[in-house]
This record gives sequence, structure tokens and C-alpha cells, in this order.
Amino acid sequence: MKNLKSKVAVITGAGSGIGRSLALKLHKKGVKLALNDFNESTLNQTIKLIGSKEEVYKEVFDVSDKDRFYQFAKNCIKHHKKIDIVINNAGITNGNFSASETTIETYSKVLGVNLWGMIYGTLAFLPTLREQEESSVVNLSSIMGILGTPYQSVYSTSKFAIRGFSEAVAVEELCHKTGVTVTSVHPGGIKTNIVRNIEGSTLSEVQLKKLDTHFPTTADKAADKIIAAIQKKKTRVIIGPDAKFMYFLSRFSHKLSMKFLEKWAKKLRRLNGNKNRSPNNQS
Ligand code: NAI
Repeated sequence: MKNLKSKVAVITGAGSGIGRSLALKLHKKGVKLALNDFNESTLNQTIKLIGSKEEVYKEVFDVSDKDRFYQFAKNCIKHHKKIDIVINNAGITNGNFSASETTIETYSKVLGVNLWGMIYGTLAFLPTLREQEESSVVNLSSIMGILGTPYQSVYSTSKFAIRGFSEAVAVEELCHKTGVTVTSVHPGGIKTNIVRNIEGSTLSEVQLKKLDTHFPTTADKAADKIIAAIQKKKTRVIIGPDAKFMYFLSRFSHKLSMKFLEKWAKKLRRLNGNKNRSPNNQS
């Protein structure tokens, strides 16, 4: 999809970070937008930054709500008459907790937003995307969808599942010879509000600042890579030096990857102030 002018793109989670950056950059390239976020005020800020209201359709809802998502798809098609690109970007994390510290409710919540949100977003739009000669579904996974990441089991589980789903659908679209490209995106640390947006987080500003140093890539850079992937019809994108290192390590040696992750996890546990907690501690 070399020429993006007059294409229509749907972006979820467009009120912050990668989603906002994608909205601003795609708008500059002449793309018409349909945006979602469950945070109305940050979504409105994105639309204000875009500066041209008439080309932007918006709906405020939680992507884990199936009925709302399918209604959104209908409304987007009614508003823009066609859809060329769907970027399932909305996502959350729950912080740095062991698998047994994480409650079943948290598993449900994170999988609801990260995984079900992407499944609804893909399936609700696929029929209309297939009507175009070429179109694109982009699902935001993570490098944690390639390497099982300690103290991130729920997030990692959701991101592995997104990769599995996206890769399966990508090949199905090839089998059916539709023009739909499905892209699985795997960023490393991207400087956004993702950690600051953790529900109930008790991290101090000092801890957050230290954690920021583990996020080497900007949201703008990530958005540039995602847009280039759409244009080049890439099905897998690894973003950031940290993600590239972990990706190649995972392909080289599983044992070395595990050693690396053990050290990395200990460092992050120290930064999060929970290195002395027992793996069962829920508090
Ligand atoms: P962010 O927190 O800055 O932005 C996420 C946006 O999604 C926010 O505006 C938030 O309000 C919205 N959102 C959250 N839950 C929602 C829901 N249920 N319904 C609708 N909107 C919802 O985070 P960021 O970093 O821009 O994240 C974008 C995607 O990139 C996520 O899927 C995330 O998992 C993924 N990612 C981020 C990485 C990072 O280091 N920041 C690394 C790898 C992947």
C-alpha cells in the first residue's frame, strides 16, 4: 500500500503513546481517521492536535466490549464508506508481578483488553477490508510476545496469543487470495504512558523516571516503523534495539535467552522495589 492518500484508518487506543503518534502521522499523509480510546479527554486531545475535526470519526468505548466494538465497525463504515487500515493498538499492562502473585481477575482483565480487543477489532473489520484491493490489519503485540517474560506473565500471554492469532489470519488471507495483509508488531520498550497508566500503580515518580531508561525508543519512531510496514506489506515488525537484541538471542539460544531474562528481571524487580517479595505475596 505505497500511497496512503485518501485511505481510511481505524486506530484503537489513540489517546496516548503509539496510537496518538500513528493518528498524527497518518493524518499528515492524507489518511482519514476513525479513532477510539476509553479515555475521552486524551482522545479529544489527540483530535485537537490533529486540528481538523471533519475528517476524524471518534468513539469512546472499552475495546474489550464486543457489542460496542462491532457497532463501532458498522458506524466507521457508515461514516467513511470504506476502511483500508485497522490498527489494533489499545493495550494495558499490570506491572511487575509473578504469575502466582497475579490474580485471576487481572488475567481476565488484561486478556480482555489486549487479546479479545484485538480479536474483535480484526474480525469486525475483516469483511469490509476484503472488499479493498489492498488493505491492512496491524496488531500490536510486543517483544514479550516472542520471549516469555518473567514477572509479566499475563502481559506476555496476551502478546503471544496476539502473535499466534495474527500469523494464523495472515496466512488464511493468503490462502483466500484476499488483499488483506496482517501484521504482528513487536516493540521493545517504547517511551509512552503505558507504565503510568497501570491501574492502582504505587510507583513513585523517582521509580518511574528510572524505569523510563528501559524504554529506548520514542512513540514517533515506533509509529514511523509501523507505517513503513503497512506500506511495505510486512507481516512481522520488530521495533527498537532492545527488541532486536532479544529477538536474535531467542533465535540463537533458548538457554542464553533465559539467562539474560533472569538478570533483566532481577534488575527490574529492584527498580520496582519488589525484589524481596515472595512469589505468592499479593500485597
Ligand atoms: P499508552 O498507555 O501510552 O497508550 C495506550 C492507549 O490505549 C491509552 O490511550 C489508553 O487509554 C488506551 N486504552 C487502554 N485500554 C483501553 C481499552 N480497554 N479500550 C480502549 N482504549 C484503551 O501505551 P502505548 O505504549 O502507546 O501502547 C500501545 C500498544 O503498544 C499497546 O498494545 C502496548 O501493549 C503495546 N506495546 C507497548 C510497549 C511500550 O513499551 N510502550 C512495548 C510493546 C508493546
